Amino acid sequence: MGSIDTPTITENGSTQSQAAAPSGGDHKPPASANGAQVEVSPEPEGTKKRRSSMLPLEVGTRVMCRWRDGKYHPVKVIERRKMPYAVPYDYEYYVHYTEFNRRLDEWVKLEQLDLDSVETVVDEKVEDKVTSLKMTRHQKRKIDETHVEVGHEELDAASLREHEEFTKVKNIATIELGRYEIETWYFSPFPPEYNDSLKLYFCEFCLNFMKRKEQLQRHMRKCDLKHPPGDEIYRSGTLSMFEVDGKKNKVYGQNLCYLAKLFLDHKTLYYDVDLFLFYVLCECDDRGCHMVGYFSKEKHSEESYNLACILTLPPYQRKGYGKFLIAFSYELSKKEGKVGTPERPLSDLGLLSYRGYWTRVLLDILKKHKGNISIKELSDMTAIKAEDILTTLQSLELIQYRKGQHVICADPKVLDRHLKAAGRGGLEVDVSKLIWTPYKEQS
Ligand code: ACO
Ligand code: ZN
Repeated sequence: MGSIDTPTITENGSTQSQAAAPSGGDHKPPASANGAQVEVSPEPEGTKKRRSSMLPLEVGTRVMCRWRDGKYHPVKVIERRKMPYAVPYDYEYYVHYTEFNRRLDEWVKLEQLDLDSVETVVDEKVEDKVTSLKMTRHQKRKIDETHVEVGHEELDAASLREHEEFTKVKNIATIELGRYEIETWYFSPFPPEYNDSLKLYFCEFCLNFMKRKEQLQRHMRKCDLKHPPGDEIYRSGTLSMFEVDGKKNKVYGQNLCYLAKLFLDHKTLYYDVDLFLFYVLCECDDRGCHMVGYFSKEKHSEESYNLACILTLPPYQRKGYGKFLIAFSYELSKKEGKVGTPERPLSDLGLLSYRGYWTRVLLDILKKHKGNISIKELSDMTAIKAEDILTTLQSLELIQYRKGQHVICADPKVLDRHLKAAGRGGLEVDVSKLIWTPYKEQS
């Protein structure tokens, strides 16, 4: 399966690019975009004048920008800032690559922009927003006080615009966590005193975060946690899952939400971690249990959500942990005797992972099953909500509507083809190693 681009991770000083180059980018830059490159022939005076008259670029400008693959891609200017000690017009620009996910938004220098490609009509809506937007107190509180994410569909159009405006520029650029330095993907509403730091240092066990490396080093000498707080409910080989109650471990739950929001976009944040359980997956060695990813789950969900947010930390992505976390959430639902579904909206990567998981689980059953089977039966066997089964099978064109009802049509050869396309199975959950009883309110 192809790769979707994500920012980079460093381990022991070496940078691993998470990304394959995106397609496109055939645009050829001019010999000189701003005089930084050597010119072959002198630039006509008129061209120079025209270029400097457009500087600094307005927020909302659309232009081509050289990306890390060396190719030019269309971007929209989201924000600009004067460089320290800058000569006039020396600005940096925060750009959104319009072909790619917001996680690739970044600050770029003028020399990366091809001024000949500037589209003269500035996006008026963006300009309006920039000049007129102020957060309402209610909105600000929702974002500031924060901690547990729910979907954007809760917001009306105006609030959504405000949210996008407030979160448009990443505040923290990188974090250090355990042995990794990780580039962040999105804005996260850390308390204001952290907003002047580009980098934050996390204790990988209690998830407390600090502005300076020396603070972290001092903290590590004192911190006696070697695994997430809470109960270990699963252990298989070096893999362990801990259940953390947000009410009993409030600070840990809040720290986890701050951390997770750096990699989750389409979520708004609410205050109360008390209402959630956090399932934290760790790889364990003699130094302790190192967090790989997690999912959160409401203690009581009226909408039959069995998962609120899911994250695999970037250094561990594409290794099957996401499918493990998804499978785990359904194993918990089976133990509860309920069907479940993830909270919406799903991100691009979330949707891919869920589609892959649903396809594999359902088609494995259909392959082995003899005779008729209904969607209800599939749902009972897998704890996957009927609607998700229907949309999965429909997207694979395995459903026909006959005489007023849905019928599953499963030709073994077609099933094999779809299973192959659904990718690898991921890490297996060994249910015999899960020791867990559903949450009960303690008085
Ligand atoms: N490019 C292409 N396909 C991908 C990519 C990618 N970068 N990442 C995952 N996939 C697809 C693949 O089909 C992959 O299977 P394959 O490797 O066999 O081809 C499948 O998704 C899952 O792969 P895993 O290795 O099991 O998943 P991973 O550990 O990478 O975690 C997750 C997936 C949790 C979605 C991760 O990408 C992540 O944390 N993303 C950021 C946070 C996020 O978007 N979470 C979901 C939000 S929705 C919600 O919370 C309800
Ligand atoms: Zn600690």
